[in-house]
This record gives sequence, C-alpha cells and structure tokens, in this order.
Amino acid sequence: MLTASLLLDPAFTVAPVSRRTFGSFVEHMGRCVYTGIYEPAHPTADADGFRTDVLALTRELGVSLVRYPGGNFVSGYRWEDGIGPAADRPVRRDLAWRSLETNEVGIEEFMRWAGKAGVEVMYALNLGTRGVQEALDVHEYLNHPDRTRLAELRRSNGADQPYGVKMFCLGNELDGPWQTGHKTAREYGRLAAETARALRSAEPGLELVACGSSSSSMPTFAAWEAAVLELAYDVVDYISAHAYYEPIDGDIGSFLASAVDMDHFVRSVAATADSVGARLKSKRRLMISFDEWNVWYLRAFEASRDADATDWPVAPRVIEDCYTLTDAVVVGNLLISLLRNSDRVTAACQAQLVNVIAPIRTEPGGPAWRQTIFHPFALTSRLAQGEVLRVEVRGPQYDTQRFGAVPVLDAVATHNPGTGDVAVFVVNRHQTESLNLSVALGGFGAPLRVAEAWTLADDDPTAANTAEHPDRVVPKPTPDAEVTAGLLKVTLPPVSWTAIRLTH
Ligand code: AHR
Repeated sequence: MLTASLLLDPAFTVAPVSRRTFGSFVEHMGRCVYTGIYEPAHPTADADGFRTDVLALTRELGVSLVRYPGGNFVSGYRWEDGIGPAADRPVRRDLAWRSLETNEVGIEEFMRWAGKAGVEVMYALNLGTRGVQEALDVHEYLNHPDRTRLAELRRSNGADQPYGVKMFCLGNELDGPWQTGHKTAREYGRLAAETARALRSAEPGLELVACGSSSSSMPTFAAWEAAVLELAYDVVDYISAHAYYEPIDGDIGSFLASAVDMDHFVRSVAATADSVGARLKSKRRLMISFDEWNVWYLRAFEASRDADATDWPVAPRVIEDCYTLTDAVVVGNLLISLLRNSDRVTAACQAQLVNVIAPIRTEPGGPAWRQTIFHPFALTSRLAQGEVLRVEVRGPQYDTQRFGAVPVLDAVATHNPGTGDVAVFVVNRHQTESLNLSVALGGFGAPLRVAEAWTLADDDPTAANTAEHPDRVVPKPTPDAEVTAGLLKVTLPPVSWTAIRLTH
C-alpha cells in the first residue's frame, strides 16, 4: 500500500471559488439541442418543448454558466434565423457538422431554457463569416432595453425585458483551418479588437473573451495568443483556452495525468498574456476562459468522418462518447486543476452538456441518464465553496510516457470562511495500488469532522453507465474517511476520485 500526505491551511488561499468554473456548453451540434435539451414530443416535455428530465439533471449537475450556440457551428450561423414565428424560420446548412439546422431553437427558446435551468448565458458571436455590425445587432437584440429597431423586435417576439447577457465570446477557434472563416492571428486580432471596441461603446460593462488557440498542440500556440493580444489586450477581459483529453495508443498512465497538461497549458497562456501586458505597460491582468474542456475520443471521431458524405441529416448522432470510470477520474482531476488555477481561470465550460461528449445522455422519446463524468462535476460544483486553498502534497510518483514522473496523488481544497466547512478533492492515479492518505488539519482551529465523503472507483476501470444500466458507476460513501486528533485519514482505491466535506 502506498502512502501520501497533504498539508492544508486556511491561510494558503489561491482565490475565491468562481461559480463560473462550473460552466457547460450547448452547441447546435448533433443531438445536444434537438432531442437533447429540446424535444417537444417527449413525454416529459414542458409547454415550451424542453425535456424536463434534462432540465432536472442540468440543475443537479450544478451548472452555473452555459456557452451558446457554438462551437464550430457559430462561425457560419445567422442569429436572426432563430427569432420570431417558428413557421418563418429558414432551414440552413451547417457546414461545421454537415447537417441541417432547422432553427426551431434560437435565442428566444435558449434564453427561456437558461432561465428554467437557472444558468447564466455566455453568448458566442460569429466572427467567422460575419463581423462588427452583426455582433452589434445581436447585442442590441439581446441587451438593449427599448426603442431601437432590434430591441423592439425582441419585445414584439415576447421578451419585454433585455436578457442582460454579460459574457460574449468574440468568435470561436479562428486559429483552426477547419473553422469557417479561419483567419491569421493579425486578421483575427484586428477584428476581435474592433468588435470589442464597438460592443463596449454600446455597453461598457460587458465581459469579452478573445479566442486563444483551439488547443496547445496547434503549431501557432502561444504565438497566436501573443499576436491577438497585441491588438486586443486593452479591450478584452479573457483569453480562451480549449483542451480535450483521451488515452493515446492505450497509454492510460499519461491519460490519468491529463491535469498535468492542463496546469501547464494554463501557466503558458497566463505567461503569454502577462508578457503582452508587460510590453504594453498595461495594469490590466487578463483572465482565462477555459470554455471548452473534457475527455473526448477525438481520434476515433476523426477516423470515422466520411469526407465524401453527400447527405444532410438533421440532429444526427455525433460524438456521443460513452464514458468509463477512468474517464470520470480524469474529469474529476481536470476540475481539481481548474480550481487550483482559480487565480487565472475564472470561467470554464465543460463541452458539452447533453449527448455530444456530455455528462447527460438521452434517447429520443426515451430516458435521460447520468454518464460517469456527471458525478465528479456535480459533487465538485456542490462542495467547492468559499476560497480555493493551495495544498502541499507529499507522496510517491509514477512514470508516464508523455509527462515523465508525475505525482500519484493530486489534490485541491476549498474553505468556506462563512460556515467553516472544508472540502478536499483528491485523485489516486495509480492503476493497481491503493493510497493511504493523511491530511493535516491543524490550522483550522476548532476540530473538524467528516460530514460527507464520496468515492468514485470500480473493480473494472472501463465500467460505464448506459440506458439499461444508468447507475452502474456512481459515487459511493467512502468507507474509512475519519478525523482523529486533527488528522484526516482515508484510503484511496486505485484509479479513484474522492470528495470529502469536513465541518466543525
Ligand atoms: O465541442 C466540439 C467542438 O470542439 C466545438 O464545436 C469546437 O469549438 C471544438 O473544436
């Protein structure tokens, strides 16, 4: 049995827990919208056509923020297709995912859904095929109170009050050659800066996200961020980061250490942004919007894509990855990384919410269920409260092909000064060995005790949840978590994620 220890202290604060860390993403892609959040003929559908089973799971997941409407989709999207009477809405080609968009769901429907789900909306603008004017138009429709043409159009479509969207993404992944309207960094930087300036003239308090690289493996990574920010630094608040992880050639050891890569990615983007800020002698400090992250079996998807396809399906099944216990442990670890980096990452969106690489799966006319990755997200969102604490980890390492020697244990903690509660999130990345963990709690004054403790583990690391067995993998109460004399002791099974809430 391996052993490891953690030292926690309420003085080691990183930053407040940002609720926006628990964001998600709804793209008009595959079955995320149609037969995902929206299915008027479904037995659970409400009067607006939304699946109430999916709404209930979204609330249970603890989602705070939802990016909409794309993704690659948004770079060819005309927002005005999705407003007004349903019968007048055009059917259009979606080039990104080679399907037909019926526009049954648009701004009005999505905003209504977001209200019911209790989530903030992060609206992504099309800077692929469109520009400053269209960005101003959709902003006017969403946020202008009254009297202007587009504000009155919104009101005539039933939304008397402005929607008050605060966060706007200035396009999506425009560094990627696959993106409709792909641009060089200078072209994009100019367009992002001009769009940001115009939007700020309309509403100074907006929070604007410039596109960073679509992954850290892009050949232009970091050079893209630097060139874009040279032009847009003073008028944006965030630079985006996107990262998807999967086991490559069966290398589970490296896959389990994906958070090492996410930490490095965040540090690199922050360093690049800070270096531009320093060159510009700016006092501003940009934050990172990690607005696409998840496990995604991307290589299998790329291999299955048919470049010669001639059909144009509506809401086809696209990247409906079925997640394993191991995937859930990696997702739990990525959430640890996002929390640990809360001084720079203040918004993050798991991609996506329903069906498309998602924590929630549905069948048309049938059930909705929680994938394995649902559980670490829901527990972290519920238990992470107050301030993020840096933790000192002592323990063994293991060798990985991609990252060299990495710690077997990864951890982060939060402390809620209001209630005194402490939450500890830990991962045992070892594939065969359990880990005996001791956590020193001396700095918290009055004694703490375990209020609740949950572990995700399984004898079969490939176990998954399905429509037939939706609860095959669920968090179970951690059997031996206990505090004695200021020391929390707990056994972490191989390939496991654990969350513990301590209270006075
Ligand atoms: O989330 C799926 C896709 O991944 C998004 O549309 C795109 O932005 C990213 O490449």
